[in-house]
Amino acid sequence: MEKFIVEGGKRLTGTVRVSGSKNSALGILVAAALADGECLLHNVPDETDIRIMIDILIELGVRVEWLEANTLRLRTAHLRSYQAPYELVRRMRASFYVAGLLLARVGKAEVPLPGGCSLGSRPVDFHLKGFQALGADVSISHGLMKAEATRLIGTKIYINRSSVGTTVNLMLAASLAEGQTILENAAKEPEVVDLAIFLNGMGARIKGAGTNVIKIDGVKKLSGTEYTIIPDRVEAGTLMIATACTRGDVVVEEVVPEHLRAVVLTLQEAGVTVEEDLTRFHVVSDRRPKAVDTETAPYPGFPTDLQQPFVALMSTADGTSIIRETIFDRFRYVDELRRMGADIKVERDTAIVRGVERLTGAPVEVTDLRAGAALLCAALGAEGATEMVGVEHIDRGYERIDQKLRALGARITRFHAEGEWPSQE
Ligand code: EPU
Repeated sequence: MEKFIVEGGKRLTGTVRVSGSKNSALGILVAAALADGECLLHNVPDETDIRIMIDILIELGVRVEWLEANTLRLRTAHLRSYQAPYELVRRMRASFYVAGLLLARVGKAEVPLPGGCSLGSRPVDFHLKGFQALGADVSISHGLMKAEATRLIGTKIYINRSSVGTTVNLMLAASLAEGQTILENAAKEPEVVDLAIFLNGMGARIKGAGTNVIKIDGVKKLSGTEYTIIPDRVEAGTLMIATACTRGDVVVEEVVPEHLRAVVLTLQEAGVTVEEDLTRFHVVSDRRPKAVDTETAPYPGFPTDLQQPFVALMSTADGTSIIRETIFDRFRYVDELRRMGADIKVERDTAIVRGVERLTGAPVEVTDLRAGAALLCAALGAEGATEMVGVEHIDRGYERIDQKLRALGARITRFHAEGEWPSQE
């Protein structure tokens, strides 16, 4: 167990660089294993989820090496197994992407079903329906998905809800299928576009990524390539919200401003100054934010992954904001925010947040990644010390976040729970 002690109330100032996108990297790492040659990936964030995916790929026979801090080399001569190990798969939902890889490359996949998680029940029925449409025989028994296809055959697939994971998995599978696959109602998230550009760099023929119709002309073989992963829009948004929570003045660099349009407009509506150039945001806040109502939506809407930090910001807004969550069941962290003095009522999919003047530090527990980001934002702006346990959830998807925040002036110390000694940097 890891924990943070955050001494709140310190204004964040300075410049911070955003890491590569976790969710983009997860799909791209698996896609790299479709290549017959060597792939070199830059800007890979060194985070727990990425390390879990690397371990799964190694188990399947992919050779993976870190060349330097954020550069990975992957080589896949052949996959030695079509069975993904339960112990690793159960730790991360995105590991289900290896189903698309195995079906495309080996024609056979046995992947444990990802269970529910702290975001509620998260089925993979759309993924399975897609594999079946591509001609795979899919069965489920004892929590294991078994799929088999001598050859995947392209077809038209309607994805019932524009699911990111389904779009990624089917793009992986269809890249090496016979003929054309058309994904209707595909996800338009920047991570899907990043994957398409990467796959096309390997020789795939994918058109329309970023729109809701993606056409994939299957090819016989994919080859190695070199690629740089896009910046993490969720980390960027978290840092912007953290700045606003501390009434700070921060330049967030290495961003694609276009990817955060809804977030910038919402922050501006709350009275936060956000200026941008090609790759940076300058975020300044010198007063209590105004209450803003919003709801999460697939891209380009307000991202579900920033709903929690945004609720933390609205906790000290002037007025009452209504935040609706339309993608997942993602309000469990609210009880912890209440311990810090937030006045939030949750009714089904909606949080009614009555802004208070100030939050106060308290012991809190992190239960998932974005809940951790919300509590961290709240703690940075709160009066007094917040003790956060369960920080390993934050490490799943934020690279060295405590170091980055310290460099902006935050008072935050990491402890390993056993020894209670500050960890080395
Ligand atoms: N859904 C189904 N059946 C399926 C697949 C999805 O009912 O087979 C539902 C989900 O339950 C959800 C909706 O469709 O209500 C959309 O889910 P989606 O498939 O888009 O989510 P995901 O692929 O599981 C990715 C990100 C999430 C992010 C969501 C939404 C990765 C690895 N994960 O999840 O990121 O919140 O898209 O944008 O890309 C995070 O980083 O903290 C995180 C949870």
